[in-house]
Amino acid sequence: MQKRRITERVHWLGAIDWDRRLFDSLVPLPDGTTYNAYLIEGSEKTVLLDTVDPPMTDELMAQLAGVSKIDFIVSHHAEQDHSGAIPRVLERFPEAKVIVTPKAKGMLTDLLKIPENAFVTVDDGETISLGDKTLKFIHTPWVHWPETMSTYLEEDHILFSCDFYGSHIATSDLFVTDQGRVYEAAKRYFAEIMMPFRKVITKNIEKLNGYDIRMIAPSHGQIYGQPAWIMDAYRDWVMGAPHNLVVLPFVSMHGSSRQLVDRLASCLVAHGVRVELFNLAVTDIGKLAMALVDAATIVVGTPTVLAGPHPLAAYATLLANALRPKVKFLSIIGSYGWGGKTVETLAGMIPNLKVEVLEPVLCKGVPSETDFEDLDKLAGVIAAKHKENDFK
Ligand code: FEO
Repeated sequence: MQKRRITERVHWLGAIDWDRRLFDSLVPLPDGTTYNAYLIEGSEKTVLLDTVDPPMTDELMAQLAGVSKIDFIVSHHAEQDHSGAIPRVLERFPEAKVIVTPKAKGMLTDLLKIPENAFVTVDDGETISLGDKTLKFIHTPWVHWPETMSTYLEEDHILFSCDFYGSHIATSDLFVTDQGRVYEAAKRYFAEIMMPFRKVITKNIEKLNGYDIRMIAPSHGQIYGQPAWIMDAYRDWVMGAPHNLVVLPFVSMHGSSRQLVDRLASCLVAHGVRVELFNLAVTDIGKLAMALVDAATIVVGTPTVLAGPHPLAAYATLLANALRPKVKFLSIIGSYGWGGKTVETLAGMIPNLKVEVLEPVLCKGVPSETDFEDLDKLAGVIAAKHKENDFK
Protein backbone atom coordinates (compact mmCIF):
# COMPACT_ATOMS: atom_id res chain seq x y z
CA MET A 1 0.00 0.00 0.00
CA GLN A 2 1.36 3.44 -0.91
CA LYS A 3 1.26 6.43 1.43
CA ARG A 4 -2.10 8.25 1.36
CA ARG A 5 -2.94 11.91 1.79
CA ILE A 6 -5.04 13.03 4.77
CA THR A 7 -4.58 16.81 4.69
CA GLU A 8 -1.93 19.14 3.29
CA ARG A 9 1.46 17.45 3.96
CA VAL A 10 -0.10 14.97 6.39
CA HIS A 11 -0.06 11.38 5.11
CA TRP A 12 -1.07 7.93 6.28
CA LEU A 13 1.65 5.32 6.15
CA GLY A 14 1.55 1.83 7.55
CA ALA A 15 0.27 -1.63 6.81
CA ILE A 16 -3.01 -3.49 6.55
CA ASP A 17 -2.85 -6.89 8.24
CA TRP A 18 -5.70 -8.73 6.54
CA ASP A 19 -4.72 -12.14 7.94
CA ARG A 20 -4.15 -11.53 11.64
CA ARG A 21 -6.68 -13.32 13.84
CA LEU A 22 -5.13 -13.06 17.32
CA PHE A 23 -3.33 -10.30 19.19
CA ASP A 24 -1.07 -10.78 22.21
CA SER A 25 -1.92 -14.50 21.85
CA LEU A 26 -5.18 -13.57 23.59
CA VAL A 27 -7.37 -11.04 21.78
CA PRO A 28 -9.43 -12.33 18.82
CA LEU A 29 -9.24 -10.13 15.70
CA PRO A 30 -12.13 -11.36 13.50
CA ASP A 31 -11.57 -8.57 10.96
CA GLY A 32 -7.76 -8.33 10.96
CA THR A 33 -6.22 -4.93 11.76
CA THR A 34 -4.07 -2.08 10.51
CA TYR A 35 -0.91 -0.53 11.93
CA ASN A 36 -1.17 3.16 11.15
CA ALA A 37 1.83 5.46 11.05
CA TYR A 38 1.61 9.09 9.94
CA LEU A 39 4.06 11.41 8.22
CA ILE A 40 3.80 15.15 8.82
CA GLU A 41 6.00 17.44 6.73
CA GLY A 42 6.27 20.89 8.25
CA SER A 43 8.01 23.77 6.49
CA GLU A 44 11.16 23.05 8.53
CA LYS A 45 10.91 19.65 10.18
CA THR A 46 9.47 16.28 9.24
CA VAL A 47 8.03 13.86 11.77
CA LEU A 48 6.96 10.24 11.64
CA LEU A 49 4.28 9.28 14.16
CA ASP A 50 4.65 5.63 15.23
CA THR A 51 5.70 2.74 12.98
CA VAL A 52 4.33 -0.75 12.32
CA ASP A 53 4.42 -4.30 13.67
CA PRO A 54 7.90 -5.76 12.98
CA PRO A 55 6.83 -8.32 10.32
CA MET A 56 5.50 -5.42 8.23
CA THR A 57 8.56 -3.19 8.47
CA ASP A 58 9.54 -3.58 4.81
CA GLU A 59 6.21 -2.08 3.78
CA LEU A 60 6.82 1.01 5.89
CA MET A 61 10.40 1.34 4.64
CA ALA A 62 9.15 1.24 1.04
CA GLN A 63 6.72 4.06 1.82
CA LEU A 64 9.61 6.08 3.26
CA ALA A 65 11.81 5.51 0.19
CA GLY A 66 11.12 8.94 -1.25
CA VAL A 67 11.41 10.79 2.06
CA SER A 68 14.72 12.66 2.27
CA LYS A 69 14.81 13.32 6.03
CA ILE A 70 13.02 12.58 9.26
CA ASP A 71 13.79 14.85 12.17
CA PHE A 72 11.57 13.20 14.77
CA ILE A 73 9.88 9.87 15.33
CA VAL A 74 7.06 10.22 17.85
CA SER A 75 6.48 6.96 19.70
CA HIS A 76 3.08 7.24 21.37
CA HIS A 77 3.19 3.75 22.85
CA ALA A 78 6.02 1.30 23.46
CA GLU A 79 4.07 -1.83 22.46
CA GLN A 80 5.82 -3.41 19.51
CA ASP A 81 2.92 -3.25 17.05
CA HIS A 82 3.65 0.52 16.92
CA SER A 83 7.26 0.81 18.03
CA GLY A 84 8.75 -2.37 16.58
CA ALA A 85 10.05 -0.82 13.36
CA ILE A 86 11.73 2.19 15.05
CA PRO A 87 15.22 0.57 14.99
CA ARG A 88 14.97 0.08 11.21
CA VAL A 89 13.76 3.65 10.70
CA LEU A 90 16.67 4.89 12.82
CA GLU A 91 19.11 2.91 10.67
CA ARG A 92 17.83 4.78 7.62
CA PHE A 93 17.52 8.17 9.39
CA PRO A 94 20.22 8.07 12.12
CA GLU A 95 19.84 11.77 12.90
CA ALA A 96 16.18 11.37 13.89
CA LYS A 97 15.25 11.83 17.56
CA VAL A 98 12.64 9.61 19.16
CA ILE A 99 10.06 11.68 21.05
CA VAL A 100 8.53 9.86 24.01
CA THR A 101 7.11 10.32 27.49
CA PRO A 102 9.72 9.80 30.23
CA LYS A 103 8.13 6.44 31.07
CA ALA A 104 8.22 5.26 27.46
CA LYS A 105 11.94 5.98 27.22
CA GLY A 106 12.73 3.28 29.77
CA MET A 107 10.29 0.85 28.20
CA LEU A 108 11.66 1.31 24.68
CA THR A 109 15.18 0.92 25.99
CA ASP A 110 14.18 -2.40 27.54
CA LEU A 111 12.09 -3.65 24.61
CA LEU A 112 14.05 -2.46 21.57
CA LYS A 113 17.49 -1.58 22.97
CA ILE A 114 17.36 1.89 21.40
CA PRO A 115 20.40 3.91 22.58
CA GLU A 116 19.74 6.52 25.26
CA ASN A 117 21.00 9.46 23.16
CA ALA A 118 18.34 8.83 20.50
CA PHE A 119 15.51 9.94 22.82
CA VAL A 120 13.91 13.30 23.55
CA THR A 121 11.36 13.16 26.37
CA VAL A 122 8.40 15.52 26.42
CA ASP A 123 6.23 16.69 29.30
CA ASP A 124 2.46 16.75 29.24
CA GLY A 125 1.35 19.75 27.18
CA GLU A 126 4.77 20.42 25.66
CA THR A 127 4.88 21.57 22.02
CA ILE A 128 7.35 21.18 19.18
CA SER A 129 7.33 23.36 16.08
CA LEU A 130 7.80 21.84 12.63
CA GLY A 131 7.86 25.36 11.11
CA ASP A 132 4.32 25.99 9.94
CA LYS A 133 2.87 23.09 11.91
CA THR A 134 2.87 22.53 15.67
CA LEU A 135 2.68 19.30 17.61
CA LYS A 136 1.29 19.33 21.13
CA PHE A 137 1.93 16.23 23.22
CA ILE A 138 -0.83 15.14 25.58
CA HIS A 139 0.01 12.46 28.11
CA THR A 140 -2.85 9.95 28.03
CA PRO A 141 -1.71 7.10 30.29
CA TRP A 142 -3.28 3.63 30.24
CA VAL A 143 -4.58 3.69 26.71
CA HIS A 144 -3.22 1.05 26.72
CA TRP A 145 -0.01 0.93 28.81
CA PRO A 146 1.10 3.45 31.47
CA GLU A 147 3.45 5.33 29.13
CA THR A 148 0.98 6.18 26.36
CA MET A 149 0.48 9.65 24.94
CA SER A 150 -1.41 11.34 22.09
CA THR A 151 -0.37 14.16 19.77
CA TYR A 152 -2.53 17.09 18.67
CA LEU A 153 -1.61 18.76 15.38
CA GLU A 154 -2.78 22.26 16.16
CA GLU A 155 -3.11 23.80 12.69
CA ASP A 156 -5.00 20.79 11.26
CA HIS A 157 -7.00 20.03 14.46
CA ILE A 158 -6.07 16.33 14.23
CA LEU A 159 -5.63 14.14 17.31
CA PHE A 160 -3.24 11.23 16.78
CA SER A 161 -4.38 8.90 19.54
CA CYS A 162 -2.59 5.55 18.99
CA ASP A 163 -4.61 2.70 20.63
CA PHE A 164 -7.06 5.25 22.17
CA TYR A 165 -10.22 5.29 19.97
CA GLY A 166 -8.67 2.58 17.77
CA SER A 167 -10.40 -0.40 16.22
CA HIS A 168 -9.13 -3.63 14.74
CA ILE A 169 -10.43 -3.60 11.17
CA ALA A 170 -8.46 -4.40 8.04
CA THR A 171 -9.89 -2.24 5.26
CA SER A 172 -8.68 -0.17 2.35
CA ASP A 173 -11.05 2.67 3.35
CA LEU A 174 -8.89 5.27 5.05
CA PHE A 175 -11.81 7.05 6.75
CA VAL A 176 -14.77 5.59 8.63
CA THR A 177 -17.44 4.56 6.13
CA ASP A 178 -19.57 2.16 8.20
CA GLN A 179 -20.14 3.69 11.62
CA GLY A 180 -21.94 0.64 13.04
CA ARG A 181 -19.10 -1.68 12.12
CA VAL A 182 -16.49 0.63 13.60
CA TYR A 183 -18.56 1.17 16.77
CA GLU A 184 -18.55 -2.58 17.40
CA ALA A 185 -14.84 -3.01 16.62
CA ALA A 186 -13.85 0.00 18.75
CA LYS A 187 -15.99 -1.24 21.65
CA ARG A 188 -14.41 -4.69 21.39
CA TYR A 189 -10.97 -3.09 21.48
CA PHE A 190 -11.84 -0.85 24.44
CA ALA A 191 -13.25 -3.85 26.34
CA GLU A 192 -10.22 -6.02 25.74
CA ILE A 193 -7.41 -3.62 26.62
CA MET A 194 -8.68 -0.42 28.27
CA MET A 195 -11.73 -1.25 30.37
CA PRO A 196 -9.72 -1.92 33.56
CA PHE A 197 -8.29 1.62 33.48
CA ARG A 198 -11.53 3.61 33.40
CA LYS A 199 -10.58 5.98 36.22
CA VAL A 200 -7.45 7.19 34.43
CA ILE A 201 -9.15 7.23 31.04
CA THR A 202 -11.87 9.47 32.51
CA LYS A 203 -9.13 12.02 33.22
CA ASN A 204 -7.77 11.63 29.69
CA ILE A 205 -11.21 12.27 28.21
CA GLU A 206 -11.68 15.32 30.43
CA LYS A 207 -8.27 16.59 29.36
CA LEU A 208 -9.31 16.42 25.69
CA ASN A 209 -12.38 18.59 26.36
CA GLY A 210 -10.23 21.67 25.89
CA TYR A 211 -9.24 20.79 22.32
CA ASP A 212 -10.97 21.54 19.03
CA ILE A 213 -10.64 18.01 17.65
CA ARG A 214 -11.95 17.77 14.09
CA MET A 215 -10.33 14.47 13.17
CA ILE A 216 -9.00 11.50 15.15
CA ALA A 217 -6.28 9.39 13.56
CA PRO A 218 -5.70 6.26 15.67
CA SER A 219 -2.98 3.67 15.14
CA HIS A 220 -5.42 0.83 14.41
CA GLY A 221 -8.38 0.99 12.05
CA GLN A 222 -9.93 3.87 10.22
CA ILE A 223 -9.60 7.63 10.70
CA TYR A 224 -12.59 9.48 12.17
CA GLY A 225 -13.40 12.44 9.92
CA GLN A 226 -16.29 13.27 12.25
CA PRO A 227 -15.07 12.15 15.66
CA ALA A 228 -17.91 13.35 17.94
CA TRP A 229 -19.74 10.00 17.93
CA ILE A 230 -16.74 7.90 18.94
CA MET A 231 -15.86 10.40 21.69
CA ASP A 232 -19.46 10.13 22.96
CA ALA A 233 -19.28 6.33 22.80
CA TYR A 234 -16.12 6.33 24.92
CA ARG A 235 -17.77 8.63 27.47
CA ASP A 236 -20.59 6.09 27.79
CA TRP A 237 -18.28 3.07 28.02
CA VAL A 238 -15.97 4.74 30.53
CA MET A 239 -18.28 6.90 32.66
CA GLY A 240 -21.84 5.79 31.92
CA ALA A 241 -23.95 3.74 34.35
CA PRO A 242 -24.29 -0.03 33.76
CA HIS A 243 -27.25 -1.05 31.63
CA ASN A 244 -30.23 -3.18 32.62
CA LEU A 245 -28.34 -6.21 31.32
CA VAL A 246 -27.34 -9.61 32.70
CA VAL A 247 -24.42 -11.38 31.03
CA LEU A 248 -24.48 -15.16 31.35
CA PRO A 249 -21.20 -16.89 30.46
CA PHE A 250 -21.78 -20.61 30.89
CA VAL A 251 -20.63 -24.10 30.04
CA SER A 252 -22.64 -27.30 30.22
CA MET A 253 -21.43 -30.88 29.92
CA HIS A 254 -24.61 -32.95 29.97
CA GLY A 255 -27.30 -30.28 29.79
CA SER A 256 -28.15 -29.58 33.46
CA SER A 257 -26.34 -26.23 33.66
CA ARG A 258 -27.82 -25.29 30.28
CA GLN A 259 -31.33 -25.91 31.64
CA LEU A 260 -30.57 -23.59 34.58
CA VAL A 261 -29.23 -20.88 32.30
CA ASP A 262 -32.19 -21.06 29.95
CA ARG A 263 -34.68 -20.89 32.83
CA LEU A 264 -32.94 -17.93 34.45
CA ALA A 265 -32.68 -16.10 31.12
CA SER A 266 -36.37 -16.65 30.42
CA CYS A 267 -37.36 -15.36 33.88
CA LEU A 268 -35.13 -12.31 33.60
CA VAL A 269 -36.63 -11.38 30.25
CA ALA A 270 -40.11 -11.78 31.75
CA HIS A 271 -39.02 -9.27 34.42
CA GLY A 272 -37.94 -6.81 31.73
CA VAL A 273 -34.18 -7.45 32.08
CA ARG A 274 -32.04 -7.88 28.96
CA VAL A 275 -29.79 -10.95 28.80
CA GLU A 276 -26.82 -12.05 26.73
CA LEU A 277 -25.78 -15.72 26.82
CA PHE A 278 -22.26 -16.90 26.01
CA ASN A 279 -21.70 -20.63 25.66
CA LEU A 280 -18.03 -20.74 26.59
CA ALA A 281 -17.45 -23.91 24.57
CA VAL A 282 -18.03 -21.99 21.34
CA THR A 283 -18.07 -18.26 22.11
CA ASP A 284 -15.81 -15.52 20.80
CA ILE A 285 -14.30 -14.21 24.03
CA GLY A 286 -14.18 -10.70 22.54
CA LYS A 287 -17.98 -10.69 22.31
CA LEU A 288 -18.16 -11.55 26.00
CA ALA A 289 -15.75 -8.72 26.81
CA MET A 290 -17.92 -6.30 24.83
CA ALA A 291 -21.05 -7.32 26.71
CA LEU A 292 -19.24 -6.76 30.00
CA VAL A 293 -18.78 -3.07 29.09
CA ASP A 294 -22.52 -2.54 29.71
CA ALA A 295 -23.53 -5.35 32.10
CA ALA A 296 -24.95 -4.62 35.55
CA THR A 297 -24.89 -8.29 36.55
CA ILE A 298 -22.85 -11.38 35.67
CA VAL A 299 -24.18 -14.86 36.33
CA VAL A 300 -21.64 -17.63 35.70
CA GLY A 301 -23.12 -21.01 34.82
CA THR A 302 -20.96 -24.09 35.34
CA PRO A 303 -21.02 -27.78 36.05
CA THR A 304 -18.70 -29.16 38.71
CA VAL A 305 -15.58 -30.83 37.29
CA LEU A 306 -12.86 -32.43 39.42
CA ALA A 307 -14.45 -30.86 42.51
CA GLY A 308 -14.45 -27.30 41.13
CA PRO A 309 -15.79 -25.10 38.32
CA HIS A 310 -15.35 -26.19 34.71
CA PRO A 311 -12.00 -24.76 33.47
CA LEU A 312 -13.81 -22.69 30.80
CA ALA A 313 -15.97 -21.08 33.49
CA ALA A 314 -12.86 -20.44 35.58
CA TYR A 315 -11.21 -18.79 32.54
CA ALA A 316 -14.21 -16.51 31.92
CA THR A 317 -14.30 -15.56 35.61
CA LEU A 318 -10.57 -14.84 35.63
CA LEU A 319 -10.99 -12.71 32.50
CA ALA A 320 -13.91 -10.76 34.01
CA ASN A 321 -11.82 -10.13 37.12
CA ALA A 322 -8.92 -8.85 34.98
CA LEU A 323 -11.15 -6.63 32.80
CA ARG A 324 -12.80 -5.02 35.87
CA PRO A 325 -16.11 -4.12 34.24
CA LYS A 326 -18.51 -1.76 36.04
CA VAL A 327 -20.76 -4.72 36.94
CA LYS A 328 -22.50 -4.41 40.33
CA PHE A 329 -23.93 -7.88 41.02
CA LEU A 330 -22.70 -11.42 40.49
CA SER A 331 -24.09 -14.88 41.01
CA ILE A 332 -23.24 -18.47 40.18
CA ILE A 333 -25.54 -21.19 38.99
CA GLY A 334 -24.66 -24.75 38.13
CA SER A 335 -24.83 -28.44 38.80
CA TYR A 336 -22.82 -31.11 40.55
CA GLY A 337 -22.83 -34.88 40.83
CA TRP A 338 -21.65 -35.57 44.35
CA GLY A 339 -20.01 -32.46 45.80
CA GLY A 340 -17.20 -29.97 45.29
CA LYS A 341 -16.17 -26.37 45.90
CA THR A 342 -17.41 -24.65 42.73
CA VAL A 343 -18.87 -21.56 44.43
CA GLU A 344 -15.95 -21.06 46.82
CA THR A 345 -13.41 -21.41 44.00
CA LEU A 346 -15.15 -18.93 41.67
CA ALA A 347 -15.87 -16.49 44.50
CA GLY A 348 -12.15 -16.49 45.30
CA MET A 349 -11.29 -15.50 41.73
CA ILE A 350 -12.95 -12.07 41.67
CA PRO A 351 -11.04 -9.84 44.13
CA ASN A 352 -11.03 -6.94 41.61
CA LEU A 353 -14.80 -6.88 41.17
CA LYS A 354 -16.66 -4.60 43.55
CA VAL A 355 -19.83 -6.66 43.38
CA GLU A 356 -22.59 -7.80 45.66
CA VAL A 357 -22.70 -11.60 45.39
CA LEU A 358 -26.27 -12.86 45.10
CA GLU A 359 -27.34 -16.26 46.47
CA PRO A 360 -26.05 -18.99 44.09
CA VAL A 361 -28.27 -21.77 42.79
CA LEU A 362 -26.62 -25.20 42.53
CA CYS A 363 -28.52 -28.36 41.69
CA LYS A 364 -27.60 -32.01 42.24
CA GLY A 365 -27.91 -33.84 38.94
CA VAL A 366 -30.67 -32.55 36.69
CA PRO A 367 -32.60 -29.52 37.99
CA SER A 368 -35.68 -30.18 40.11
CA GLU A 369 -38.78 -27.99 40.34
CA THR A 370 -37.33 -26.53 43.56
CA ASP A 371 -34.16 -25.54 41.69
CA PHE A 372 -36.23 -23.80 39.01
CA GLU A 373 -38.16 -21.95 41.72
CA ASP A 374 -34.84 -20.80 43.22
CA LEU A 375 -33.86 -19.47 39.79
CA ASP A 376 -37.17 -17.63 39.52
CA LYS A 377 -36.38 -15.99 42.87
CA LEU A 378 -32.86 -15.10 41.72
CA ALA A 379 -34.30 -13.47 38.60
CA GLY A 380 -36.70 -11.45 40.77
CA VAL A 381 -33.87 -10.30 43.04
CA ILE A 382 -31.73 -9.22 40.06
CA ALA A 383 -34.63 -7.37 38.44
CA ALA A 384 -35.37 -5.57 41.74
CA LYS A 385 -31.70 -4.58 42.16
CA HIS A 386 -31.56 -3.19 38.62
CA LYS A 387 -34.76 -1.23 39.21
CA GLU A 388 -33.52 0.20 42.56
CA ASN A 389 -30.39 1.43 40.77
CA ASP A 390 -32.37 2.80 37.85
CA PHE A 391 -30.29 0.86 35.31
CA LYS A 392 -31.73 1.48 31.82
FE1 FEO B 1 -1.78 -1.35 19.44
FE2 FEO B 1 -1.21 -1.49 22.81
O1 FEO B 1 -0.81 -1.64 20.99
